[in-house]
Amino acid sequence: MSVIRSQVLGCGAFLPAKILTNAELARTVDTSDEWIRARTGIERRHIAAKGETTSDLAFHAAQAALKNADVGVDELDLIIVATTTPDETFPSVATKIQARLGMTRGAAFDVQAVCSGFIYGLSVADNFIKAGQAKTVLLIGAETMSRLMDWNDRTTCVLFGDGAGAIVLRAGEGAGSAKDRGVLNTKLYSDGRLHDLLYVDGGPSTTGTTGFLRMQGKEVFKHAVINIADSILASAKEAGVDVAEIDWFVPHQANQRILDGTARRLHLPGERFISTIAEHGNTSAASVPLALAVAVADGRIKKGDLVLMEAMGGGLTWGAGLVRW
Ligand code: UT7
Repeated sequence: MSVIRSQVLGCGAFLPAKILTNAELARTVDTSDEWIRARTGIERRHIAAKGETTSDLAFHAAQAALKNADVGVDELDLIIVATTTPDETFPSVATKIQARLGMTRGAAFDVQAVCSGFIYGLSVADNFIKAGQAKTVLLIGAETMSRLMDWNDRTTCVLFGDGAGAIVLRAGEGAGSAKDRGVLNTKLYSDGRLHDLLYVDGGPSTTGTTGFLRMQGKEVFKHAVINIADSILASAKEAGVDVAEIDWFVPHQANQRILDGTARRLHLPGERFISTIAEHGNTSAASVPLALAVAVADGRIKKGDLVLMEAMGGGLTWGAGLVRW
């Protein structure tokens, strides 16, 4: 049986030039390099310059992905941007990217699922492709999380960073088995009752301000390891593969201890989990494509590899996507 598969043609990433180290942060807030490294694995993060916006980061990541995929703007049918930090309340970052790329056809919109945004976007892109509504899709995860930080709150401001990553997907053919190249499945979940664990205390229809990120870190941590492991198992089961057959796990980069805990729970070697947490911190919807771009560029992820992406974030939302690269 022949099925449509959304195949990844290429990926790219972009980070703002400014780097903020733990030691620099410790000069302005009551924390230390030792605490941040030991509790999170983070060593530094990139921070967007004044005037540098989410769409600036997204645009550069998009250009890198299109180049890597050898796909022209005129071939794109759809742009999806996963972000929780748009330049403006509206319009979407995606339509700004559409204009900057010079794309004058098709459609563009944003997806909001906070740190799970890239997995949600992958699912939306895959379903557009499978339904025949788009052939070639540019999917971007881009964030300026630094804009949502209360820089006096040491429990959150040490965790996040800015950046963007992107992939290009195109409809291809498969036999309907796990040997096919492309997206094999995506599994999405949410539980809106857990709003208070991770949210922003502002918005257009409440305070009329952007607000600051608020998190009950310990509680989020507990949910993360369980939910992420469950979504990995669900994705592998649906695809008919054993988790041990998965070559690479590309997790949302929230905390090295979450990555290690997930690997332990699934009895997997930690080396199979791509980690960029030390360099990037938590870049929300950008963290999975940023990590992907690193592992593809350094040759770890190769054509034909089985790659599992996963994330959990505000909402709470979580999910996984299994892709044969
Ligand atoms: O991206 C969306 C998903 N987000 C996540 O998955 C994040 C999940 N949560 C976490 O990663 C961790 O819970 C944190 C890194 C946020 C916190 O680590 P923790 O081991 O859970 O620490 P804690 O919140 O239990 O705090 C331990 C202590 C506290 O002091 P006391 O009460 O024991 O005296 C905190 O006040 O560490 C203190 N603390 C800090 N100390 C130095 C909290 N933040 C800091 C800090 N520097 N930045």
